[in-house]
Amino acid sequence: MTEVGAPREQRIRRALDHLRNDTTDAFDHITWFQPEEFTDPAIAKRERDLIFGRVPSIVAHGSEIPRSGDFFTLQMPRNNIIVVRQRDGGVKTFVNLCRHRGALLEKEEKGRCRLFSCPYHRWSYDTDGTLRTITRDNTFGEPDTSSMGLVELPTEERHGFIWVVDEANAEIDVAGWLGKEMDAILSGYGLDSKIAVQSEGFDEPVNWKIMQDAFLDGYHIQYAHPNTAAKHIHTNVMAFEDFGRHCRFIAPRKSIDRWIEEDPGDRSLAKDITETHFLLPNSTLLRQPDHFQLLTFRPHPTDPQRCRMEMRLIVPPVADTEMTEEKWTRLWNKNWEILLAVLHAEDFPLLRDSQHGMTSANAGRMVLGQNEVANQVFRRETQKLLATN
Ligand code: FES
Ligand SMILES: [Fe+2]
Repeated sequence: MTEVGAPREQRIRRALDHLRNDTTDAFDHITWFQPEEFTDPAIAKRERDLIFGRVPSIVAHGSEIPRSGDFFTLQMPRNNIIVVRQRDGGVKTFVNLCRHRGALLEKEEKGRCRLFSCPYHRWSYDTDGTLRTITRDNTFGEPDTSSMGLVELPTEERHGFIWVVDEANAEIDVAGWLGKEMDAILSGYGLDSKIAVQSEGFDEPVNWKIMQDAFLDGYHIQYAHPNTAAKHIHTNVMAFEDFGRHCRFIAPRKSIDRWIEEDPGDRSLAKDITETHFLLPNSTLLRQPDHFQLLTFRPHPTDPQRCRMEMRLIVPPVADTEMTEEKWTRLWNKNWEILLAVLHAEDFPLLRDSQHGMTSANAGRMVLGQNEVANQVFRRETQKLLATN
């Protein structure tokens, strides 16, 4: 794998030094912010339009729709969409709405079909979006059907993920958006040969940025997760790299502790860390020693105080491992159950209460510390996108 930035083992040693010295990589200033950023409908609309309407974000892993005609539907911040695998192996995204009189074309969350058929007057569309049938066309009149296909959104599959810009007139260039460093980092992971063994969405009464922030946060672990995550991961220790738009950081796991006193020499400490990638605008990709975890956070289409979080467990297919299918299934099921338990019992209640707090009339300004590096990058970069016109 081509290295981007300092070699990984060197970055791990930087994290180990931080652990020894009770330090962490830090931002150059603290940042104040206002509670309205999480409650104001006008700000939320600007975010939907200037962020999600302009830049690519991940909607799924390609393995979730492997065969031609496989599709899923999804509420994006600006459009309700259908994402469907094409006969040529590509992926297209359409607004989930019939071009006749606007009925919801596909109700199912997931499925496989040869064509989309409207429940209202039974017009049908090919999976490439072309209008195929107008029912009782001898009575309907003669619209120009070539302009009546489903409305398509810019879509690209790259690094195993499906990316969409939530605006029909936009263009998509995932490599350009990721930038040289992050594009090279992701391509080194071979994510396109892995599979999403589990994926689930959670609709939460919380602003998407409060949720995204919690999953870039290495500062809360010991306090919010004392009996779960904190048993495995150190709190507030990061070896951090800022790539301008995106960033990544290494956090040491507790298994590294034997090397605090002892010199590890040049042995690999890759098993003793978690590496987190923030992909602007709304994803956290966690690289664990033997798998990946993707977390995405999407604003609700109208309500600033709601969002959808999706979590995916991305793992090597059983054929690429030494495991039996049974063992492989058991391993990832168990892993998934642990993740769900922490989310539901620990993170979600805390974050719902944060959201509630933001609605207090005199909540007052709040602050991000220098140690909250990834959160600083997330805020800096979303503010940049919102400052454009
Ligand atoms: S609204 Fe779809 S066929 Fe009439
Ligand atoms: Fe947490």
